[in-house]
Amino acid sequence: MSSSTIYQATASAPVNIAVIKYWGKRDTKLILPTNSSLSVTLDQDHLRSTTTSRADPSFERDQLWLNGKEDEIKPGSRLATCISEMKRLRKETVEEKDANAPKISGYNVHIASYNNFPTAAGLASSASGFAALVASLAQLYELTVSPSELSIIARQGSGSACRSLFGGFVAWQMGSSPAGTDSLAVEVAPQSHWPQMHALICVASDDKKGTSSTSGMQRTVETSPLLQHRIAHIVPERMQAISEAILKRDFDTFAQITMADSNQFHAVCLDTTPPIFYMNDVSRTIIALIVELNRVSVAKGEGYKAAYTYDAGPNAVIYALDKDIKEIVQLIVSYFPQHAREFKDRFQLFAEGADINAQTKIPEGFNEAVAKRFEVGAVKTLIHTRVGDGPRRLGDEESLLAANGIPK
Ligand code: DP6
Repeated sequence: MSSSTIYQATASAPVNIAVIKYWGKRDTKLILPTNSSLSVTLDQDHLRSTTTSRADPSFERDQLWLNGKEDEIKPGSRLATCISEMKRLRKETVEEKDANAPKISGYNVHIASYNNFPTAAGLASSASGFAALVASLAQLYELTVSPSELSIIARQGSGSACRSLFGGFVAWQMGSSPAGTDSLAVEVAPQSHWPQMHALICVASDDKKGTSSTSGMQRTVETSPLLQHRIAHIVPERMQAISEAILKRDFDTFAQITMADSNQFHAVCLDTTPPIFYMNDVSRTIIALIVELNRVSVAKGEGYKAAYTYDAGPNAVIYALDKDIKEIVQLIVSYFPQHAREFKDRFQLFAEGADINAQTKIPEGFNEAVAKRFEVGAVKTLIHTRVGDGPRRLGDEESLLAANGIPK
């Protein structure tokens, strides 16, 4: 090949939201968890990170730009670890096996990454970000390793990122090896298994900077007796039961376990010294609405309609089947009016151009007094999405790097 060959690849990766929560590390450097976890991958048509990587002998050092702004790659950082691990894989699995393979693992890389959702939305971008980084480098280096093997590297960027290497329903098996070689993500079921699974993200306004997952979870490990009970006696059974529920498409069991696990995650936060609070009044009100919605529905013999879950912040993610999403949007909007034209009706729930605030509806038999109505903006945005696929390989036309190797 001529010296002008450009070694470059672009990939996108999805966001995932856990239904069995990861919270606690047994090894903070390798990012080995204290319990297994399980998540649903969300559709990257709606929420994604896109990353372009290029290797070139003329690059003076490894450099990374996030949303157009350079982010320093500190030696020994999670970012530096992921990049060097990917270079090592290139060297060991390609270059040392094939004498003709170009020795690009020795070149410095330029990496540009972009999230199509605002960081201000309060959605964790580290999972999709590290997954897209690893996926684009795997493509650049023409690695033939499995997504589970790549998940071991993404895990060292951010624990939850390992689950974004797959679409559908994904388990992160905690593993037992001190080296972390068996702490990896596996597919429980692909997106196509249960495409009716939708998600409604309720973005609650949050001005104050909360406790980060990384520092919060270690405080929990050090101080919470409830976490020890959760690790030993709760999570193993729940992992088994929710995996079976997913395989059987049993929404009632899926919903009950999802809500119980979100509750217990926030309980171990409260059990931490000093205590950590992630949910606020808006979060708790959405819980009350979903509990009442399910109560009415179960009483009618129609089973569960929705499952809430909350991560390290006040936003609610509501999992529900597509047939029930419209009713859930109408209920949420009844209590949380929206700014005009804020809601993106991706699945045409309502007539085109309809005013979302004119779509309020309370289900029959629903006790309206379970919550008070909030002002416009208490829930800033509602994002309607669904279960999606794993990392995608994108064409050169989607590259984030210009010809000179600097972000466009
Ligand atoms: C509450 O993966 O962000 O979202 O491994 O320290 O980067 P680090 O933490 P991170 O923690 C995610 C915690 C959670 C639960 C989950 O996604 O399972």
